[in-house]
Amino acid sequence: MRADVITLFPDMFRTLEHSIPAKAAKAGVFDLRLHNLRDFPLNRYGAVDDYPYGGEPGMVLHAQPLEDSLLKALEGRQGVPVVYPHPHGKTLTQSDVREWAEVPEIVLICGHYKGIDERFRYEYVTHEFSVGDYVLSGGEMASLVFLDAVTRLLPGVLGDEGSARTDSFEEPLLGWPVYTRPEVWNGLKVPDALLSGNHDRIRKWKRKQQLLWTMERRPDLWKAHEMTKEDWKLLEDETLT
Ligand code: ADE
Repeated sequence: MRADVITLFPDMFRTLEHSIPAKAAKAGVFDLRLHNLRDFPLNRYGAVDDYPYGGEPGMVLHAQPLEDSLLKALEGRQGVPVVYPHPHGKTLTQSDVREWAEVPEIVLICGHYKGIDERFRYEYVTHEFSVGDYVLSGGEMASLVFLDAVTRLLPGVLGDEGSARTDSFEEPLLGWPVYTRPEVWNGLKVPDALLSGNHDRIRKWKRKQQLLWTMERRPDLWKAHEMTKEDWKLLEDETLT
């Protein structure tokens, strides 16, 4: 995936030089290109924003620098999705992320202060998303969330290909608790099933924990989950510890 990002704060994207997004870049499946909106000022005073018409507090990003930077980023490419993170967008889900991971090229527009001039949004923005029902100070953090979630699904990025598929939300149940060495820590023992070496028992224990966690923590997901006969059996099985 090639991702062009238009932002007032390109340095914030240095966080993608770490961990999984860095691995994706090294593997050649993620190409991040940053464009500083300040390189496209409206006038010789370097203005990229101005007061909103109508007299509210805050600042609005000018349409012209946004258009100039977008056209430069597109380099004549047609049909590239222009994505604007904004609290008004639909909340991003794992299934959206999976779809975005199939898209070869995108542009992310990071708004700041009060937002971007509506006429630029009208002319160019093709998609919007929100990362949650709260207001961030700009689109950078939301774009970072988006890019982190997408890059880990790009082909060849996660060492064990299966590990993305067993994530919470890959199916509408939460995951299960995980443990590593030692077997006893602070008097707390790793569950017997995980030490049993019995693959069927381990699978059943994990499934039971998924059911329990989802029931306790996410009643909305629990309601949407269709229980199988085996699910009911696992919930009632008191030997599965
Ligand atoms: N920009 C500001 N707040 C946001 C949010 N919650 N999601 C996406 N972009 C944003």
